[in-house]
Amino acid sequence: MAGGAAADGSGGGARGGTRPRGGDRPSGTVTRGTTHRNRLRRMDRWIVAEHGAVLRRSPRPPLAVDLGYGAAPWTAVELARRLRAARPDVRLLGLEIDPGRVAAALPFAGEGLTFGRGGFEVPIGEAGDPDERPLLIRAANVLRQYPEEEVPAAWRLMCGRLAPDGLLVEGTCDEIGRRHAWVALGPEGPRTLTLATRLADLGTPGDLAERLPKALIHRNVPGEPVHAWLRDLDRAWAAAAPFGALGARQRWLRTVRSVAADWPVRGGHARHRQGEVTVDWSAVAPR
Ligand SMILES: C[S@@+](CC[C@H](N)C(=O)[O-])C[C@H]1O[C@@H](n2cnc3c(N)ncnc32)[C@H](O)[C@@H]1O
Repeated sequence: MAGGAAADGSGGGARGGTRPRGGDRPSGTVTRGTTHRNRLRRMDRWIVAEHGAVLRRSPRPPLAVDLGYGAAPWTAVELARRLRAARPDVRLLGLEIDPGRVAAALPFAGEGLTFGRGGFEVPIGEAGDPDERPLLIRAANVLRQYPEEEVPAAWRLMCGRLAPDGLLVEGTCDEIGRRHAWVALGPEGPRTLTLATRLADLGTPGDLAERLPKALIHRNVPGEPVHAWLRDLDRAWAAAAPFGALGARQRWLRTVRSVAADWPVRGGHARHRQGEVTVDWSAVAPR
């Protein structure tokens, strides 16, 4: 599809805009399909912890979407498995804009796990009633390959498809999922930014800057709130160095406690000890 495909690993991003282009053409553009098994485990775990209660109280089997699952459907299969720990009858729809990747995923379809072609407009297709709204849309390592100016329109399209208590999780990670950053959005727009890392490998929190979602990656410059956020995390991490004698986890917990004095930090001890820190979007949104 889309002649502007950048599926060659060259670093080329998406081109062609996020607006639906008429007919049944999905909104967006084919990009590199790189993926890995278990890459998104940190994001999956956070979703289950933060959104599990909403999934559990859904009066019908909830619908979740893994948008842009890539060249192989591992992340969709794994998300379905992890969500089922919270809600066993969850239905997972893997959506890909690349028809070849949809065909490659079809052998993995099964009870409550379907695959289809679609873009940011999030068509439901055979997964259920076309008017049904998903309780979850996860788009990992998708928008990272688009121009920054296309992010708001893509967010609007996906948020516009959510159920009233639905959640969109859009973010980025490294190849093996040790460093993550994602934005959580409700139907009304962005709510929080989460950084998540394997603490044993962490040099300093600022190392996560290279994984910031597209909406923020170009904003890590002096004068922008996300720059101040990472700077304060780095300062707190340096000040917490003595706690490193007790392990990286203790140092991280001390760091999060310290920044929480000045920043609207969310999530409790159970999340922080996983190497996560979540902050209100309003505190880090681009100026
Ligand atoms: C780098 S892969 C990410 C795979 C997986 N989510 C992960 O994180 O490992 C990005 C995938 O997103 C797909 N994609 C890009 N834009 C899309 C859109 N608008 N709708 C659906 N899929 C899209 C691409 O075709 C590509 O396969």
